[in-house]
Amino acid sequence: MIQGKLITMDEFTIQETRKFPQATGELSSLLRDIALAGKVINKQVRKAGLADILGKHGATNVQGEEQMKLDVLANETLIHVLKNSSDCSGIASEENDNVVPYEDTFSANSKYIVLFDPLDGSSNIDVNASIGTIFSIYRRVSELGKPCCEKDFLQPGNRLMAAGYIIYGSSTMMVYATRLSVNGFTLEPSIGEFCLSHPNIKIPDNGKIYSINQGNTVKFSAGMRAYLDYCMESKKEEGRPYSHRYIGSMVGDLHRTLIKGGIFMYPADKSSPNGKLRLQYECNPMAFIVEAAGGMASDGTTDILDVQPTELHQRVPVFIGSKNMVNKALEFVNMPEVVAN
Ligand code: AHG
Ligand code: MN
Ligand code: MN
Repeated sequence: MIQGKLITMDEFTIQETRKFPQATGELSSLLRDIALAGKVINKQVRKAGLADILGKHGATNVQGEEQMKLDVLANETLIHVLKNSSDCSGIASEENDNVVPYEDTFSANSKYIVLFDPLDGSSNIDVNASIGTIFSIYRRVSELGKPCCEKDFLQPGNRLMAAGYIIYGSSTMMVYATRLSVNGFTLEPSIGEFCLSHPNIKIPDNGKIYSINQGNTVKFSAGMRAYLDYCMESKKEEGRPYSHRYIGSMVGDLHRTLIKGGIFMYPADKSSPNGKLRLQYECNPMAFIVEAAGGMASDGTTDILDVQPTELHQRVPVFIGSKNMVNKALEFVNMPEVVAN
């Protein structure tokens, strides 16, 4: 943590923007709007146990009012805040079937679009473990002056302008990446501001933690199973066996991986040939952050950021984290003698 003067996220973003005389400040202002939505969601998350907002959407509370599930609340908060933003032309959300273009003239002239997973790790809500919000920002490719459209949201990750997440953990943090750097800001509740706490995050090239839903092992390929054996093998001089950690919230698992190093995997398996996680809402933004911090992200053969999306909600296998660990995992999953089995 930084001692001395607090630098708020807004101050930091403005300082960064000043390095580029041609920058208009629209991206900074959009990041500020996303941070605002994050603070509103954080407020709901922090009182989740008290406020009748746990449980299934569609249920009715004792007052006869419909309960709002937290991921519905988070989704509505982001859609609403970004609609009122002066810099967002439309959104796509994991919770909506189709893209949501904002139809007003102002939004039609905005050059950015935002994709998000409003509440990641929802199965953790009822057990008070870390959850998060993941977002991606692209410059639209459709004509300015008209509402944005689906092709704006089907751009590969290598065209991202910025991506980040908010983690509602033991503290609330917002981490965002541009091509230049990755920086983390901790919410200081007394002033309601995200303040710079983790400047210029770099992911270690090596780590000691592997993160995967190991309960799926019987469904994994032979190569994947061989890599898990490698992680658990006793080789003291190489720091193995590695420790296994799995929160079941990608934001939580990736935040740890980013800070401490390690590898996070959600591979293909027999029942899910494309894995489980979504390219546009989860894997691309996380790959952009991890790669900007010096790490690596692959679907098994291709850099995640180079995968061309064809559908809004498509899934993709993912191997992401410390460079050397991801490369080692890929060696195993692509070994011809085990791939054949
Ligand atoms: P979401 O809550 O947005 O649907 O995402 C859950 C995801 C991700 O956060 C996590 O890594 C993964 O699902 C966990 O899946 P398993 O329970 O299959 O391990
Ligand atoms: Mn998710
Ligand atoms: Mn979600």
